[in-house]
Amino acid sequence: MIELNYYRTDVSKEAGKKACEQLYSILPDLTSKYDFGGKDSVKNAEKAAVASIMAHLPTILDLLGDVRGKKILDLGCGSMPQRDGDFLGRQFEPWLCRGLHILGAHSIGIDIGKLEKELFEHYSLDLTKEGCLDFIKDHTIDLVTATFFFDSPSLHDSYGEAAHDLKQQLYPHIKRVLKPHSIFPRT
Ligand SMILES: C[S@@+](CC[C@H](N)C(=O)[O-])C[C@H]1O[C@@H](n2cnc3c(N)ncnc32)[C@H](O)[C@@H]1O
Repeated sequence: MIELNYYRTDVSKEAGKKACEQLYSILPDLTSKYDFGGKDSVKNAEKAAVASIMAHLPTILDLLGDVRGKKILDLGCGSMPQRDGDFLGRQFEPWLCRGLHILGAHSIGIDIGKLEKELFEHYSLDLTKEGCLDFIKDHTIDLVTATFFFDSPSLHDSYGEAAHDLKQQLYPHIKRVLKPHSIFPRT
């Protein structure tokens, strides 16, 4: 298992270019599936989707090469409605899972918020609960992401001090579900 920093500066130019191309190839699909067409929110939704996906896709492509068929588990993936404010209108909806799903990855999103309308595999559950990842089989996941989850305001509001230990608490479970030599980028 390798830990990586969220804003990697050593992502290859090829991965950055490939990520841009892939994102723009799926924007029309994202637009139609996730209702960017709503009157006021269209620009914010597009911005949020582009920002969320582009923050991670170059790194993911660098690490995995091709995402097609890869199992990517996203902890605190975002929900609809989002639960952590609306800095960019629709920022904390599960854009990464949505984008990866459209790109052919097997996205598995977990969030305590609502996910029922999502097209990717999803679970609305509380990640602070003991045994919350037990339903995932050993060594089946290629990549685990957790963007802005461990420092999420809603997590800290609900669980206070306990939230600080959550990463350590989940770590053995993350290790268990990852395939050998797979990745949990630090986010
Ligand atoms: C800041 S948002 C990040 C969303 C998304 N990963 C992104 O990068 O846009 C944090 C997410 O963590 C979720 N969350 C907070 N507490 C949780 C808990 N106990 N179990 C599961 N998800 C939780 C929130 O519902 C929210 O969607």
